[in-house]
Amino acid sequence: MLNVKVNDKGHLSIGGADAVELARNYDTPLYVIDEMRIRENYQRLHRAFTRYYPNFQILYACKANTNLTILKILEDEGSGIDAVSPGEIYMALLAGFEPEKILYTGNNLRDDEILFAVESEVMINIDSKSQLLRLSKITDPENIRISFRINPRVGAGHHEHCITGGELSKFGIMEEEAAELYSLAQELGFQPIGIHAHIGSGILDPEPFMLAVERLMDIAGKVSKATGIEFEFIDFGGGLGIPYHPNEEPLDIKRFAEKITGLFMEKLEEHSLGEPAMYLEPGRYIVGDAAYLLTRVNTIKESYRKFAGVDAGFNTLVRPVMYGSYHHIIVANKANEKPAEEIDIAGNLCESGDLFARDRKLPKLEEGDLLAILDAGAYAFSMASQYNSRPRPAEILVKDGKAEIIREREDFSDLINKQVVPPRFLK
Ligand code: LLP
Repeated sequence: MLNVKVNDKGHLSIGGADAVELARNYDTPLYVIDEMRIRENYQRLHRAFTRYYPNFQILYACKANTNLTILKILEDEGSGIDAVSPGEIYMALLAGFEPEKILYTGNNLRDDEILFAVESEVMINIDSKSQLLRLSKITDPENIRISFRINPRVGAGHHEHCITGGELSKFGIMEEEAAELYSLAQELGFQPIGIHAHIGSGILDPEPFMLAVERLMDIAGKVSKATGIEFEFIDFGGGLGIPYHPNEEPLDIKRFAEKITGLFMEKLEEHSLGEPAMYLEPGRYIVGDAAYLLTRVNTIKESYRKFAGVDAGFNTLVRPVMYGSYHHIIVANKANEKPAEEIDIAGNLCESGDLFARDRKLPKLEEGDLLAILDAGAYAFSMASQYNSRPRPAEILVKDGKAEIIREREDFSDLINKQVVPPRFLK
């Protein structure tokens, strides 16, 4: 199902703005973010869950897209933050999030990173016994709000690299050690307030998610029974998928919310867990389909295959190369035209894997055409690099047909930023 609007010129329209004009005004490659789509996604999810369980809180997984303006939009909507690094805590605080609405879920943390979280007064979601013991050495446990990340032995995701639960996963603590670590935390003077699991990313099938909810609730029940802890929150992580391919169906979010909250409430009762807040940590669901990457065709090449060469590469959007991910592509200046040929869309980097698509059915392409790569809001700019010494692109926000710059395009000076040439090399 495609969320695509075309204006009367036959051009792709994003948030009421003409994509062809945006590319002309801001140059390419360009990330264009539709503010209202972010807000709609947030509100749809929030409405779906609060309808059944009002004590519900979204913690936006900001790794999906850390642009400060996007963070501010989500803060304005009432979101909290799932942060995975000191840098993300820093960004979230800068964007105006209250520390008590930030949950820091780190993995393999150094002591100074743990200390940074303590000093920032955010909640800390503990990933290992080592982290608990080191946390207890560097701080007064009284003032820290902690939870544990559990590996509920179930994982799911759109790619093997995006499965974060199950026996092969490096994340979380084992079910068998959960009660023991919660009581160790109590002995050390902490009062744990939450329990967490995140099983993977890009999940369109509710079943593994349901299984994780069931397991985490049973583990929460055991922990609470063994330790007397009354959980303030139970956090099921993120992972809600979006349809990248036109043949994929979106999650039926109302039905999903009904099923999850139904099971959640059943289990709360079964284990006498009271009425803790339910947290979800969506990243992709909130921002994934809210942005487009605009890139211009500069070369049509008839080689052993037919290629359209564009001015972006996997330094700009890595998902197709990294995970073999499908991203739908529209010719923004020919948005009403029917597919006429199959063509490979190739980036501008010096690696043969640098392709956005193989054999993509598109209207006949010409040099100068503008391509819009869809669903480029999550894990797109946030995974961009300067590989091949290509400065990263600009980001603009559109709303009601108007565009605002929210990240300047980098230039060559950014390529040497922080580099130091020792004086002996200076002539
Ligand atoms: N919570 C935790 C602890 C996470 O590790 C993640 C994602 C999320 C929430 C949000 O997951 P989401 O709702 O966005 O699926 N680069 C990959 C995705 C990696 C996700 C990592 N963790 C991609 O481009 O598909």
